[in-house]
Amino acid sequence: MEKTYLMIKPDGVQRGLVGKIVQRFEEKGFQLIASKLLHMSREQAEYHYAEHKGKPFFGELVDFITSGPVFAMVWQGDNIIALSRAMMGKTNPMDAAPGTIRGDYAVHVGNNIIHGSDSVESAEREIANFFSPQELITYEIPLQK
Ligand code: CMP
Repeated sequence: MEKTYLMIKPDGVQRGLVGKIVQRFEEKGFQLIASKLLHMSREQAEYHYAEHKGKPFFGELVDFITSGPVFAMVWQGDNIIALSRAMMGKTNPMDAAPGTIRGDYAVHVGNNIIHGSDSVESAEREIANFFSPQELITYEIPLQK
């Protein structure tokens, strides 16, 4: 079973979209195994976005992601990395299809509502940046009667 790190960015939290976004992943059939509202430090943000260091938008990206609380989550499910990225839509909301999270709720690439891991390796690194192993709660889901 695959795990991923999903994070509702400050724009999504401020616009009151946490519930709607969580609902989409629950309804898809994925399992929430950890979550918290947190205001990340610059160090945590620079580590999270290390692959973008040196890009022209890096400073702006770190400023934005540390500008307010984010809703950090770990989700689990079969093929969740690829499927959750499909549900989020393209990084640039201008290219994101209607029906996806960014396609429905965002306009600008810098304020694109949600982040999701792009590989198993990124997911492991990103989860460890925000959660201790003890915070991941796995549980059985009984079959619906
Ligand atoms: P995210 O999936 O969180 O990963 C990197 C982020 O950089 C991306 O979403 C965008 O929000 C942000 N970003 C800001 N400006 C740009 C840009 N010009 N091109 C790509 N990503 C950008």
